[in-house]
Amino acid sequence: MSMNPPRAARPSRSAAIARALPTGPLRDSAEFLRGFVRSPAQVGSVVPSSRRLEQRLVRSAAIAQAATVVELGPGTGGTTAALLRAMQPDARLLAIELDARFHRHLSGNLNDPRLSLELGGAQQLEEFLERRRLPPPDAIVSGIPFSTMPPEVSDRIAAAVARVLPHGGRFVAYQVRAHVADFMRPYLGAPRMEWEMVNVPPVRVFTWTKG
Ligand SMILES: C[S@@+](CC[C@H](N)C(=O)[O-])C[C@H]1O[C@@H](n2cnc3c(N)ncnc32)[C@H](O)[C@@H]1O
Repeated sequence: MSMNPPRAARPSRSAAIARALPTGPLRDSAEFLRGFVRSPAQVGSVVPSSRRLEQRLVRSAAIAQAATVVELGPGTGGTTAALLRAMQPDARLLAIELDARFHRHLSGNLNDPRLSLELGGAQQLEEFLERRRLPPPDAIVSGIPFSTMPPEVSDRIAAAVARVLPHGGRFVAYQVRAHVADFMRPYLGAPRMEWEMVNVPPVRVFTWTKG
């Protein structure tokens, strides 16, 4: 007679693997690091943004006062979750991510009826707003690395951001380098710039208000 436990009582291999995987922020960090290894220039950082940076973005973009928000480059979703936490119950968020695995991770982890996720480039901003029937956004928050993208792509994104923002609309970009300011200057003028030191690495946070 077999001494093995009945089949249903034996833990499955996939359940054991799932238990061994880190969860929550730790799992996001592991996923983020894998994304950086896949495409370092596109992801631009080895770890997700810190809580301090998330809070600074929420304040600088006045997210609590926004009816429609756009996020360019949500990554594994830490910043996206912070935006959703700060948003009004009837506000809407469009998040555009270029990396297919990050996009899949976000779809599986962020379940909020206010969120519309799109797989594609920030340069498709107007197309996605139209597809989702969203009005001009009051705030756009961006973590995409303007310094490593082809200059013509950076310029196209800068022009699209300036076109879709209404008067009084905010554009907030967090970056290690300052290239984004050069790309935006012809469209939105000079930004306000602050450093966020409690982040790996420390980043500049640029804010423009249109009008
Ligand atoms: C520095 S990470 C920021 C991730 C996340 N928001 C955070 O702060 O932790 C930059 C993100 O932008 C995405 N990205 C880069 N170029 C993009 C583009 N042209 N359009 C949309 N997303 C892009 C990358 O795949 C990556 O997820």
